[in-house]
Amino acid sequence: MLKVDTINTYYGSSHILQDVSLTVNQGEVVALLGRNGVGKTTTMRSIMGLTPPRSGEVYYCGHKINTLPPYRINRLGIGYVPEDRQVFPDLTVEENLLVAQRSRNSKKGEEWTREKVYELFPELAKMPNRLAGRMSGGEQQMLTIARTLVGNPDLLLLDEPSEGLAPKVVLNLLDVLKVIKKSISILLAEQNAVFALSLADRCYIMEKGKTVYEAAAEEIRENKDIQKKYLIF
Ligand SMILES: Nc1ncnc2c1ncn2[C@@H]1O[C@H](COP(=O)(O)OP(=O)(O)OP(=O)(O)O)[C@@H](O)[C@H]1O
Ligand SMILES: [Mg+2]
Repeated sequence: MLKVDTINTYYGSSHILQDVSLTVNQGEVVALLGRNGVGKTTTMRSIMGLTPPRSGEVYYCGHKINTLPPYRINRLGIGYVPEDRQVFPDLTVEENLLVAQRSRNSKKGEEWTREKVYELFPELAKMPNRLAGRMSGGEQQMLTIARTLVGNPDLLLLDEPSEGLAPKVVLNLLDVLKVIKKSISILLAEQNAVFALSLADRCYIMEKGKTVYEAAAEEIRENKDIQKKYLIF
């Protein structure tokens, strides 16, 4: 479904991503693990066309997307939830969902309507008229995910969704993502390995702009040496 092939991405003259390759297959949850500053967000931004790679290729469902602008990449069916929750603060919950609503590209599977999204996030259903800017961090994170869902992506890029959330909210988020993963493929960047490994099928570990290790999530859950070597717990 998604194939990132030997990409190199720069911020000005800083060479950040060095020959990064990864794949996400249909129906998979793939986690990108690694410490602060290793390049997880830059990988997401490279896929979305926000920081296009200088070399290498990105393919999505057979389309070469690394030369497309972000809005075209989004319309092909990739939804992006950036690490800095981007709700429209001056719009209500309902309005945030309304502006993002789009039908699904692939005719497979059910559509995420506002009604379905409210069922998934009962907290949001209680406050459709609340201004997004007045909500807590956890509520804004839920709204950002809800808003991306009503855009009906086939692949969801989630950048550190658990960051800064209270433990109870993280558990709630985990339940929500377990529902979402039944119908949408996910690439999940996380420093919280426990959280990521409880959702993921497969993982890549990044260090200094490179993917240094790839394995089934189960293998990483069981392999203490790898956990210690890459300090992912
Ligand atoms: N706008 C920018 N300009 C210059 N360098 C940047 C910029 N954004 C990030 N970097 C650098 O790129 C490297 C990778 O950053 P990136 O944000 O991709 O890491 P990350 O794995 O997402 O980290 P975190 O866990 O903190 O979110 C870091 O060394 C960072 O300092
Ligand atoms: Mg990041």
